[in-house]
Amino acid sequence: MKLISPSLLSADFGNLQHDIEMLNGSDCDWLHVDVMDGLFVPNISFGQPVVKHIKKHAQKPLDVHLMIMDPGRYVADFKEAGADILTVHYEACTHLDRVLHAIKDAGMKCGVVLNPGTSVCLLEDTVQLCDVVLLMSVNPGFGGQKFIENTYSKIRQLRQLCDQKNPACMIEVDGGVNTENAPKLFAAGADVLVAGNAVFRSPNPCETIKQLKK
Ligand code: DX5
Ligand code: ZN
Repeated sequence: MKLISPSLLSADFGNLQHDIEMLNGSDCDWLHVDVMDGLFVPNISFGQPVVKHIKKHAQKPLDVHLMIMDPGRYVADFKEAGADILTVHYEACTHLDRVLHAIKDAGMKCGVVLNPGTSVCLLEDTVQLCDVVLLMSVNPGFGGQKFIENTYSKIRQLRQLCDQKNPACMIEVDGGVNTENAPKLFAAGADVLVAGNAVFRSPNPCETIKQLKK
């Protein structure tokens, strides 16, 4: 599978509707929505009221990436706001199994996110529950950071684990993705690529999305 999920963190917050409509008309598959609490990550982005407005305009599934502590507290709120896929950090959940079940029970696709410093082997007991695993290829908190090369080997490890335990699970990669590394990431076994700066700082975002998918 080769899906692209442009990250709205790099969109124009003063005119989100314009950027969402551009993405509606593009070849992208999901819209990546980064929620940050200023505690789990050093930055604050936006919360469920803004997600609700994004949902009003979006014609593609919302891929909501929660970079917040104890995300289980907000599963119902993000369902109500319109999340289709809800991913939570391994590092932010004390009771990960419970949170994943809560997301599924609320009727969303669920996923675990791993920071660059967190090993893939820690997913042995939860990958069966996941529709997607998101590997961070930068330390989360900001757009426009440099891609961490170790991600390729993590994708390959994760592919092996998924083949054994949950072949349907998708592998998503987030951070520093661009038209140069995208083909290598798909070749290593990624299914979904998130791209913020690569899309929104491009002179022709729709064309860049096409290129990323190739
Ligand atoms: C970073 C976010 C990313 C970010 C990616 O913490 O999770 O989704 O928007 O931005 P780029 O593609 O610019 O690295
Ligand atoms: Zn993200």
